[in-house]
Amino acid sequence: MGTILVTGAFGQIGTELVPFLEKKFGKEHVIASDIRNVEGVFPGSRFRMLDVSSRKDVSAVIREEDVTSIFHLAGILSATGEKNPDLAFSVNLNGTYNILAEARDLGVEKVLIPSTIGVFGTSTPKKGTPVETVIRPSTMYGITKISCELLGEYFHSKFGLDVRGLRFPGIISYRTAPTAGTTDYSVEMFLHAIRGNPYSCYLKKDTGLPMMYMPDAINAMVQLCEADSARLTRRTDYHVSAYSLTPGMLEEAIRKHVPDFHVTYAPDFREAIAEQWPESLDCSISSRDWGFSPKYGIEETVIDMLENLRRD
Ligand SMILES: NC(=O)c1ccc[n+]([C@@H]2O[C@H](COP(=O)([O-])OP(=O)(O)OC[C@H]3O[C@@H](n4cnc5c(N)ncnc54)[C@H](O)[C@@H]3O)[C@@H](O)[C@H]2O)c1
Repeated sequence: MGTILVTGAFGQIGTELVPFLEKKFGKEHVIASDIRNVEGVFPGSRFRMLDVSSRKDVSAVIREEDVTSIFHLAGILSATGEKNPDLAFSVNLNGTYNILAEARDLGVEKVLIPSTIGVFGTSTPKKGTPVETVIRPSTMYGITKISCELLGEYFHSKFGLDVRGLRFPGIISYRTAPTAGTTDYSVEMFLHAIRGNPYSCYLKKDTGLPMMYMPDAINAMVQLCEADSARLTRRTDYHVSAYSLTPGMLEEAIRKHVPDFHVTYAPDFREAIAEQWPESLDCSISSRDWGFSPKYGIEETVIDMLENLRRD
């Protein structure tokens, strides 16, 4: 067993992936890293400050810690990317290039990079969107993330680096609040519901997007990472998703458990981003190649989210 580096570890996904990997492989084999340190999140874990946009620093951490696999989560998400495209370009694109190039040069065995439904644009078919389709994103997030997918494929075919990746939909979770993605309304709705507050949603009531619950997302990443390379017919663009959800559907599902919950709708600039994305994904290639099979439907997600948020 070697050493796994997780970049962007204090984010929505990293805060759940790090403890999962530590439990599976042992704390001594996992290094959490981020551009910032948040005290108390990973007690007793190995941690390195790391700005992925500095190639020198990426190189130093991989060398000094003898890194063998990387889960590269550091990134700037859709809504923040639209407010600060320079930052999104630098972190998403230069950061990913630095990770791939240093992984190649320093003999890292495997790199896993989550991509996103943000790679799609208005000309992409909206329902059951296949992996191979029209891909013309118009947000800086989408442009940088599709470029990262292609960079990953390039490093695989040109240099033999084992790069893998999946396109995540919106991810629902309770441990860490999402930063500034377009699907964050889902988590915000839960938080308002358990606090007994009404919620004003920034998407339209009937805007459907593919979504999944965090435990399924974490399982999918680790499953893909461990999959037999000979069975992989794709590299960086495996689709994963559990259901197609609109804010109205989620409101209704939460109201079954919180009858007084009330939502109003006031779409802002994020509605325009969401309207460029698919409503549902075709995940059959992931199921076939490495057994993707999500466990949480909408009702299971709602019950588990409410239980955990109330307890916390
Ligand atoms: N959460 C989702 O719903 C979702 C959906 C699709 C794809 N993804 C992808 O998954 C990955 C992780 O997403 P997330 O939701 O955890 O994001 P997040 O925004 O919650 O976390 C990103 C982390 O990256 C860190 N970071 C920012 N700039 C950095 C830099 N220069 N160097 C090192 N770290 C830096 C931030 O401090 C933060 O902790 C991203 O690549 C994102 O595109 C996430």
